Amino acid sequence: MVAMREMTEPKDLFDPRHYTRVRRPFHSAETLPPWCYTSERWYEREKETIFKKYWNCLGHESRVPEPGSYFTQTFCDVPLIVVRGQDKVVRAFVNSCTHRGSIMMEGEGSCNHIKCPYHAWAFSLEGELVGTPMFEESEHFRKADHGLAQIRAEVWNGLIFINFDPSAQAMTDYLGDLTDRVAPWKAGEMVCVARREFPVKSNWKFYAENWSDGYHVPFVHQTTLNKKRVSKRDFHDPSVHIGNYLMHYTYFSGSRGTPEGQKKFPELDLPKELKIGTFFPYVHANAMVGFAIDLVSCTEIIPEGPGACRLFTSTMVPKATAELPEFQETLELYLKYSDIVRDEDVIAAERQQRGAESAYAKPGCFTPQDKLVHDYDLWILDRVIGNSGP
Ligand code: FES
Repeated sequence: MVAMREMTEPKDLFDPRHYTRVRRPFHSAETLPPWCYTSERWYEREKETIFKKYWNCLGHESRVPEPGSYFTQTFCDVPLIVVRGQDKVVRAFVNSCTHRGSIMMEGEGSCNHIKCPYHAWAFSLEGELVGTPMFEESEHFRKADHGLAQIRAEVWNGLIFINFDPSAQAMTDYLGDLTDRVAPWKAGEMVCVARREFPVKSNWKFYAENWSDGYHVPFVHQTTLNKKRVSKRDFHDPSVHIGNYLMHYTYFSGSRGTPEGQKKFPELDLPKELKIGTFFPYVHANAMVGFAIDLVSCTEIIPEGPGACRLFTSTMVPKATAELPEFQETLELYLKYSDIVRDEDVIAAERQQRGAESAYAKPGCFTPQDKLVHDYDLWILDRVIGNSGP
């Protein structure tokens, strides 16, 4: 029996002394305190130290297929417009007019210019101010000084990533050896055949941690993923896996995309040693990518406050697979199954959230099978608190 005591968010929330127990070796370490999943102040700090410092995925580049294609999205309270330029480069801008701040574009679509509805100022697809109706340039006003605020954007393996930090590393440096590790999948040549959205009533970290947790699979996915025997898992080793990602590789035979006995996509042209399971890198800050033997998938987590987040899952396959006669029918099987599996994970994350919101919730512990969650939490701590220790 453990004595019950209330555990409220401390005033000195960011004092490293509150987190020394998380930094112990994993077998005696504690999980992040519950307030890390419920606190507004903690969440605000995460926005500044994680989401505005690291690369964030916003889905597949097919969201902007042609020059002039655009979509708008708010990320960490910043309204964004992502647009493909005439030069086919994908760019991201703050969706706020440089005249008097209006949102310029809504939704998604295609345009020749980014145009503000308030006084009709027009910006090129590259963000330069090109039109100011009834108002000329003068010694006081140069269009060149009023271009849109640009956010860094890169496409990696067909996926759009943005970064608010102008001094951040380029994606290839940021990802270290990951680009080479996943090169055999040729994901950049694949087509995106589905993008699906799922709201989750939990802190974004509960869902993210679950990605690296092999311990829950026999229980949460008892009647789904667990039907496929997993022979072993390789876990991330920072001396081997170099870059801003956290990986595990799960070994099983065949595809887990649909239940046994149901139709599958053809296997990819991969070396034999990559056809024995699925490679799962979590790319900091928000992308959970699965490199399977028959497809690549990416789920991006969009944080929406301490107690809510939103998932978007993109499914990518080779063009030749997408052109098969029975492709759509098979795809429906894959999507139906992945919805069931995801719902199982969502329910688990929402249950954790409800538990963490109790005044009596206290830090938990780790087992060898969820050791990677400890590594993940240390990564979070290093960003939010710093890694200098108390
Ligand atoms: Fe956009 Fe005036 S606020 S043109």
